Amino acid sequence: MCGIVGYSGPNNSVGPIIEGLSRLEYRGYDSAGICLKINNELQILKKEGKLDNLKSLIQEKKPFSHTGIGHTRWATHGAVTADNAHPHGNDLFAVVHNGIIENAGVLKKELQAEGFEFKSQTDSEVFLVLLTKFYLETKNVLLSISKSFSTITGNSAFVIIEKNTDKLYCLKRSAPLVVGDNQQTREAFVSSDPFALVGFAPRIYFPEDSIICESSVSENGVKINFYELDLTPSDRYKIQSNAMSVDTTNKGIYEHFMLKEIHEQPSLIEKIAAYYIKNEGRKILDQIKNFKTSCWHLTACGTAWHAGLVIKNYFEQINRQRASVEIASEFRYKNPIINENEIGLFISQSGETADTLACQELCREKGISSFAIVNVEGSTLFRNADKNFLIHAGVEIGVASTKAFTLQVLTGYLMSRAMSGTLDDPNLFVELKLLSNRVSELCADSEKIKKIAEKIYTQKGFIFTGRGKYFPIALEGALKLKEIAYVHAEGYAAGELKHGPIALIDEEIVNIAVVGPELFEKTISNVEEVKARRGKVVVIGPEKSEELEHLSDFYLGLNFHGLNDLSPLYVNVALQFLSYHIAYLKGTDIDKPRNLAKSVTVE
Ligand code: G6P
Repeated sequence: MCGIVGYSGPNNSVGPIIEGLSRLEYRGYDSAGICLKINNELQILKKEGKLDNLKSLIQEKKPFSHTGIGHTRWATHGAVTADNAHPHGNDLFAVVHNGIIENAGVLKKELQAEGFEFKSQTDSEVFLVLLTKFYLETKNVLLSISKSFSTITGNSAFVIIEKNTDKLYCLKRSAPLVVGDNQQTREAFVSSDPFALVGFAPRIYFPEDSIICESSVSENGVKINFYELDLTPSDRYKIQSNAMSVDTTNKGIYEHFMLKEIHEQPSLIEKIAAYYIKNEGRKILDQIKNFKTSCWHLTACGTAWHAGLVIKNYFEQINRQRASVEIASEFRYKNPIINENEIGLFISQSGETADTLACQELCREKGISSFAIVNVEGSTLFRNADKNFLIHAGVEIGVASTKAFTLQVLTGYLMSRAMSGTLDDPNLFVELKLLSNRVSELCADSEKIKKIAEKIYTQKGFIFTGRGKYFPIALEGALKLKEIAYVHAEGYAAGELKHGPIALIDEEIVNIAVVGPELFEKTISNVEEVKARRGKVVVIGPEKSEELEHLSDFYLGLNFHGLNDLSPLYVNVALQFLSYHIAYLKGTDIDKPRNLAKSVTVE
């Protein structure tokens, strides 16, 4: 969602701000803006649409400024217009905001009654106006920030600049925000994501909630002060070096990040296997050797929720431990039954998804331990977890999650094997290597999937089906297709088809049927039901099957042999390719699909 970048230092702030915002484009946005302090004035440039529109405006005006803030907005309150884009500013302050001010409506009315005017329909401008009001009363910037922040409710991150100094101020509540510095070049940075600061800020500070960070640059270097809301100094922050590489921002030989990320999977599968079975990760898994709990509470959103459904099967089938998997936005409001000694397991690529974080907080309040399967080290989920199981997928740029799903599931699988004390089973490593090889084969020969896509991409709707361990994969396959190809798709348990969705079947509907070696005959009967109603059928099943060849309109034969519990991941990669090729043929924006955000930091 919204991306934030701020800069203060001896160079032109425009370069690092625009570069940082470009790196955050993948998160999803609909307008962009920048505010630059030039000769003690705050100049704002904003444009609706892609960052390129703002870049053209900057190209035209060629501004130079030592201090500035930039923002990419994903609309929540107010339409997508230049006026509603951030920064919001006046002749005292400029502000960028990520999150939602929940009491904005009430506050806006009160402020309007006091005579303050608003230029936008956003909740964010309420913070600017509060800041201005308190500054006019107190003439103290820190105090005004503290008072404004204490007045609003909801989860948010703000960065503020003022016309009188080159300082950057920022603070947050349950929203991502980091501060960075480079003492050699005497530059200070702020961002919603350390990724934006790679190559600029070697050191990153992670402030906790409700801490005001004040960065100032002088000839002696960068000074960052941290204050509690009562303005006493605070030590509630962590420091980390920014070890990410700029290479991750590059598509390499691939046309899209999604394609690149699909192709990264074979080597990532081998890396995660080595990490958790043989290398540094082993001691993390050894901590849960023979571990038991009466119930796992898995919560997540989107693709990570589907990963949770696969992991639940592992915990139940391999460990015979009860596991519930819930969509985070449901779990948090349902007054869930949570008993002592149960475990909350939160799955998230970004580690910043608002609903998932709320579930983690809920479990903390209920007094149970919080485990996280997470990609971004240092994210809020990571920092608040009692135990972290990093998936080491590297930066995932494509909004539609691919490699993160595979590695979330594998991490859950390895946790399950650790709990059953079978990490040293020599077959485990062989099985994982086999998965990597089979995924490589799919990557090398995705042309055959493309040929199927060419035959079906104009169809009206798609129903993905699977049974047992392939049911979550049917859900994930359908999600991927609707995300990037903008076509109606749903996932169903194959046996459930006749309880409703079969009414949809006609010649314009395609059934993408995953027919695994288990429950083979029963799944075939479900495909027959679709065929009988003139639906088109793509079967993904064991290779060299005359029966499947005969049954389907299009048949993708796969080699399931030896993959056992890992076969859902293999099938899923085939579905990732299918969605990619269908979206490609439809000409959609594959890496940045409309209306979606990579990291959903509002509920
Ligand atoms: C968004 C993304 C999805 C992702 C979901 C959960 O909807 O577009 O790809 O699966 O959020 O994100 P998380 O970072 O928590 O895994």
